Amino acid sequence: HPPVDVDISHLQPGQQMVANWQGRPVFIVRRTAAQLEALQNPNLAGELRDPSSSANQQPAYARNWHRSIVPEYGVYVGICTHLGCVPTYMPPQATGAEADGGYICPCHASHFDAAGRVFKGAPAPYNLPVPPYTQPSAQLVRLG
Ligand code: FES
Repeated sequence: HPPVDVDISHLQPGQQMVANWQGRPVFIVRRTAAQLEALQNPNLAGELRDPSSSANQQPAYARNWHRSIVPEYGVYVGICTHLGCVPTYMPPQATGAEADGGYICPCHASHFDAAGRVFKGAPAPYNLPVPPYTQPSAQLVRLG
């Protein structure tokens, strides 16, 4: 498979888009400053089911608090690690329980944060995987 170039120049903070990579949906999310701050909350790890992500869920360049190459942009395979449904993006809200945005799986309600990490209490056992990718410029994500 040749790499797939995805133009992300239109993505606004708090928005996500879905690319197609090898027949799979790939979520590309542009995180707001508030989302990035939330991902660094020291209390977050205690709420996560899979806080440290096993190596096969993410390449070396994504083993960091933002699980990506560039903190502002997250890139995740959009397939729930429970039974394979496609989670729904929840944009960040100004207030409320879902203020930080993230994903909810429509099938059995697994809840993932804006870095694709699954919260405790969800049936999904693992975080959304990070696919192989590079970010050659601020406007471009190259999958594969
Ligand atoms: Fe996503 Fe079951 S398939 S929670």
